[in-house]
Amino acid sequence: MRIAMIGTGYVGLVSGACFSEFGVDVICVDKDEAKIEGLRQNRMPIYEPGLEALVADNVKAGRLSFTTDLASAVSQADAVFIAVGTPSRRGDGHADLSYVYAAAQEIARALTGYTVVVTKSTVPVGTGREVARIIRETRPDAQFDVVSNPEFLREGSAINDFMRPDRVVIGTETDAARQVMKQLYRVLYLIETPIVFTSLETSELIKYAANTFLATKITFINEIADLCEAVGADVHDVARGVGLDGRIGKKFLHPGPGYGGSCFPKDTLALVRTARDKGSPLRIIETVVAINDERKRRMADKIVAACGGSVKGKTVAVLGLTFKPNTDDMRDSPSLEIIPALLAKGARIRAYDPEGMEEARHMLSDVEFCDNAYDTLPGADVLAVLTEWNEFRALNMDRVKSLLKSPVVVDLRNIYSPEEMSAQGFSYSSIGRPTLPAGGS
Ligand SMILES: NC(=O)c1ccc[n+]([C@@H]2O[C@H](COP(=O)([O-])OP(=O)(O)OC[C@H]3O[C@@H](n4cnc5c(N)ncnc54)[C@H](O)[C@@H]3O)[C@@H](O)[C@H]2O)c1
Repeated sequence: MRIAMIGTGYVGLVSGACFSEFGVDVICVDKDEAKIEGLRQNRMPIYEPGLEALVADNVKAGRLSFTTDLASAVSQADAVFIAVGTPSRRGDGHADLSYVYAAAQEIARALTGYTVVVTKSTVPVGTGREVARIIRETRPDAQFDVVSNPEFLREGSAINDFMRPDRVVIGTETDAARQVMKQLYRVLYLIETPIVFTSLETSELIKYAANTFLATKITFINEIADLCEAVGADVHDVARGVGLDGRIGKKFLHPGPGYGGSCFPKDTLALVRTARDKGSPLRIIETVVAINDERKRRMADKIVAACGGSVKGKTVAVLGLTFKPNTDDMRDSPSLEIIPALLAKGARIRAYDPEGMEEARHMLSDVEFCDNAYDTLPGADVLAVLTEWNEFRALNMDRVKSLLKSPVVVDLRNIYSPEEMSAQGFSYSSIGRPTLPAGGS
C-alpha cells in the first residue's frame, strides 16, 4: 500500500509517520517548502514527544518521504489523505474549507487509476460529498471514492493516540474503498481496535459530536469549580466523587482557565453554525462557547484580584503559554486572552514556556520572554501558572519565594496544593478550591 498525505502539520505528519510505522509507504506533501526541506533533514516543524525518532526510523527504512510535489505523490498513491487545516472562517465561525477544496482540485488533476480520497481534516457534514463533486467536475474520467476518516489524536500524546486509538471511524459507501481502508488499518484490526464503519455524513458528524461533548464536559466542571469557590467546596473532590460513576467517567473533569487549542474552539463554533444553518440549533453548545469565551477573559480578573485589585505598574511572572503541556501549539490558548488583558490593565509580563515561546513571539507583543521558569520571577508581584508543564510542578518553592517581590501565586491549573502553598508562606489561589492566606513563614 502506498499513500499520499496532503498537509504535513500536526495531524498529517503524525498520521503519515504512524502509517509508515504500520508498514505503509507514505509520501507526506506540504506546500510549505521550508517545512519540507526541514523534514528532509529530520528537523521537526512541531514539538511532539517521540516524533523525531519515529520519523527518522521510517525515513531510514525507506517507507516515509517528504515532497512539495503533490501531483507526483498522488499519482503513485492507492489512497490520498487530506490533512490540511480547517480554521474558523473570519467573521462567521464556519469552518474555512478553502484549503480542503483547493487540495481536492489539485488531487483531482493528478489521480491515476482507482484511488481512495480520504478526508482526515475535521470537516462539516457534507464536505465529503462536495470533495467528490469537485473531483468529478475537475476530472470526469477519474476513478475514485471519497472516504471520511476523522482523526482523534491529542497533541502531546499524538503517536500513542494514533497507534492505540479508542476507535477508528470510517465513513465510506463502497466496498472497494472499505477494503483499502481495512488494509491501511490492518495493524489496528490485529489488536482488536473497534472500527466503526458509517456513512460519510455520520462519520463527519461523529468527530464534531465527540469534540463538542468533551468541550461541554470541561465547561461543566469549570462552572462547578466556580460554584465550589462560592460555597467553599473542593472541585477535585467533587470531580472524583462524580467521575467514579461509570456513566460519567473521570476524564475531562479537570477545571482550568477554559479550553483552547487548535480544535475545541473552532469545532464548537463550526458545529453551532452548521446546526443553525440546518434549522436544528444546539443550544447547549452555543452556551458552552459563550461561557468559555467569557471564562478566558475572567481569568485575568482573578490575577488582578490576587494583586489587591490592580496590576498597574506591577510585574506578572507567567509560567506556561501553550494551551496545554507537551505541545508548542499556541492556537486559541487562554494565554492569548489573559496576557493582553493584563497588559491593557498596565501590567508588565515576564513569561516562560518550555516549547511555545517561538510561536508565542509572533502572537504576543510587549512580553519579556525568559530563559527558564525562575528567570521570570525576580521582582515579580505575582506568579501565574497558565499551563501545567511537568517542570512547573517541581519548582523549588523556597527559591520561588525568595525571588518574588511578594509571595503571591495564582494557579489556573491547580498543580500545587493549597495547604502546602499556604504552609510555605504563599498567598495562593487556584480554581474551585479554597483560597488560603499565607500561613507559614
Ligand atoms: N491538531 C490537532 O490536534 C488535531 C486533531 C484532530 C484533528 N485535527 C484536524 O486536522 C486538520 C489539520 O490540523 P493540523 O493541526 O494538522 O493543521 P496544521 O495547520 O498544523 O497543518 C496543515 C498543513 O497543511 C498544509 N497545506 C494546506 N494546504 C495545502 C495544500 N493544498 N497542499 C499541501 N499542503 C497544504 C499547510 O501548509 C500546513 O502545513 C484540521 O482539520 C484539524 O481540525 C487536528
